[in-house]
Amino acid sequence: MKRSLTGIRPSGNVHLGNYLGMIRPALKRQGEFHCMYFLADMHALTTNKDASKMHQYSLDLVATWIALGYEHTKHILYRQSDIPMVAELAWYLSCCTGMGLLEKAHAFKDASTQQREVNHGVFAYPVLMAADILMYDPDVVPVGKDQKQHVEMARDMAGSLNAVFGEGVLKLPMPQVEEDVMSVTGLDGRKMSKSYGNEIPIFIEEKGLRKLIMSVKTDSTGLEEPKSLDGTLLGDLFRLFATPAQYTDLSNRLQNGGMGWGHAKDELFQVINSHFAESRELYQALRRDEPYLEKVLATGADQAYEIGVKVLNRVRSAVGFGPFRYHV
Ligand code: ADP
Ligand code: TRP
Repeated sequence: MKRSLTGIRPSGNVHLGNYLGMIRPALKRQGEFHCMYFLADMHALTTNKDASKMHQYSLDLVATWIALGYEHTKHILYRQSDIPMVAELAWYLSCCTGMGLLEKAHAFKDASTQQREVNHGVFAYPVLMAADILMYDPDVVPVGKDQKQHVEMARDMAGSLNAVFGEGVLKLPMPQVEEDVMSVTGLDGRKMSKSYGNEIPIFIEEKGLRKLIMSVKTDSTGLEEPKSLDGTLLGDLFRLFATPAQYTDLSNRLQNGGMGWGHAKDELFQVINSHFAESRELYQALRRDEPYLEKVLATGADQAYEIGVKVLNRVRSAVGFGPFRYHV
C-alpha cells in the first residue's frame, strides 16, 4: 500500500484553515494509503520556548486527530521528537543543500522581512522538514498550499543527495494540495492563521463559536436590500461546510432581500457547529485521558522507528557510515 505522510506543529488551537487545508484532505487518504501523521514538535520549537505549552498543545493535537476520525490503530500517529534520528538525517541533507535554496524559503524570508527572530532553526526549518518526509519513504505528502514549497524543497534535497551518493538512496514524494480549498480566509480578511489571531478554532465551545461567527465582517447593506453571498467571507466559509443546494438556497434568499446578514451568520454558525458537534465531544473526552494519549504516541513511536531506521541505514551506508546502533 502506498504511504501518505504529513505533520502539523503543536502550536495552538487547530483552526478551520488547518482543518480544511490539511487535516480533512489528509484524513480522506486513509482508505487508499497507509498513513503516518505526526506532531511536528521539533519544528514548533523554532518559535515556542514554553515547555508546558509544548506538552499541552501536543496532547491537544493527538486528541484532535483521533476525534476527527484518524484511525490510529490502522495507521501511525507519532511525535517527531520521539524519533530523534530525524535530526541526523537532516544533517546528511544539510551537507548536500546549498545556502541559496534555503534563502528562498518563504518562512525564513517572512521572518527576516518582518524582523521576527531568525534563529538557525528557522533558517534550517526546510531541511528538518525534508528529513521528516524522506525518513519514511512516503508517496504523497498532503499539505496546505503554503507548505507546498517546503515539500518541493524536500524533493530538491533528496535529488541532490541522490546525485552525490547514488540514485534511489532517497525516494522523492509528491505534495498533495486540495485545489478547491487552497487558502481559508480569517476573520479579518487575511489568511486564517494562529500568528494573525484571526482564526476560528474547530473545537471552541458553542458560545464562543457563535460569537466569532457573528464577528465575521459584512457590508452595511440594509435589511430589506438584496445581498450577494458570492465573494464574501461569509459565503466562502458557508460554501466549505454546506451542501451546494444549501448554498444556492441561502444565496437566493439573500438575493431576494428582506434577510439581514445576521440571519445568514446564524446559518453559518449552525452548519459549522453541527459539523463539529460530535467530534468536539469526543475530543473533550479524549483530552481528559492523558495516559491514553501518551500510550497512542508510544505505540506510534515504535512503529515509526521501525520504518525510519531502514531509510536512515540506507543513507548511512551510502555516505560510508555503519548502521545506526543506539535505540532506547
Ligand atoms: P498557522 O498559520 O495557523 O500557524 P500552520 O502553519 O500550523 O498554521 O499550518 C498547519 C497546516 O494547515 C499546513 O499544512 C498549512 O498549509 C495548513 N493551513 C494553515 N492555515 C491555512 C489556511 N488559512 N488555509 C488553508 N490551509 C491552511
Ligand atoms: N511545516 C509544516 C507546517 O508548518 C509542518 C511540518 C513539519 C510538516 N514537517 C512536515 C508537514 C512534514 C508535512 C510534512 O504546517
